[in-house]
Amino acid sequence: MSQPEYVIDQMISAKSIAARIEALAREIRTAFAGTEKLVVVGLLRGSFVFIADLVRELDLPVEVDFLEASSYGEAMESSREVRILKDLRGQIAGRDVLLVEDIVDTGFTLDHVVKLLQSRNPKRLETIALLDKPTRREVDVKATWTGFEIPDEFVVGYGIDYGQRDRNLPYIGKVRFTEPAAG
Ligand code: IMP
Repeated sequence: MSQPEYVIDQMISAKSIAARIEALAREIRTAFAGTEKLVVVGLLRGSFVFIADLVRELDLPVEVDFLEASSYGEAMESSREVRILKDLRGQIAGRDVLLVEDIVDTGFTLDHVVKLLQSRNPKRLETIALLDKPTRREVDVKATWTGFEIPDEFVVGYGIDYGQRDRNLPYIGKVRFTEPAAG
């Protein structure tokens, strides 16, 4: 699918992200102090950069696992029906789990995945989202920890894409179209 032309305006710098992750990691370390091993579950694909930086700040024994849920696909609209495309490799029953999400937008994804993981009876399940767009919420969910609350803008970078582009930007930027959408 072809995309309209756009430019990216920086919204959150790499330095601000790093500082925020350091602070979040301190809170998570305290919350899970004494854990035998924390299972850090990254929600693919948007969380892959975030989880990589976060686990390196967590001075705890961790295991990393991944789960992939269907989301926007190539479009900018969230799908209400969440499907699991790739499930966890490991068991989480009786274990401490931290679910790592890139953005909470309508909330459908987080709500669905939290319910799925809860049904597997973890000892404790907490959630962290790098970004939150509270004004877009359709399902009443909130991550235990949030990196940054942002306005209703379409963002890319730091693992987050627009049609599989721009995941490798080191900062979070907002997409600004430079030509009117076709049609
Ligand atoms: P939700 O189910 O509507 O909360 O959507 C969550 C998922 O939609 C996120 O994990 C992202 O993959 C995707 N998403 C939401 N907002 C954006 C955005 O601004 N840019 C890129 N992807 C987004």
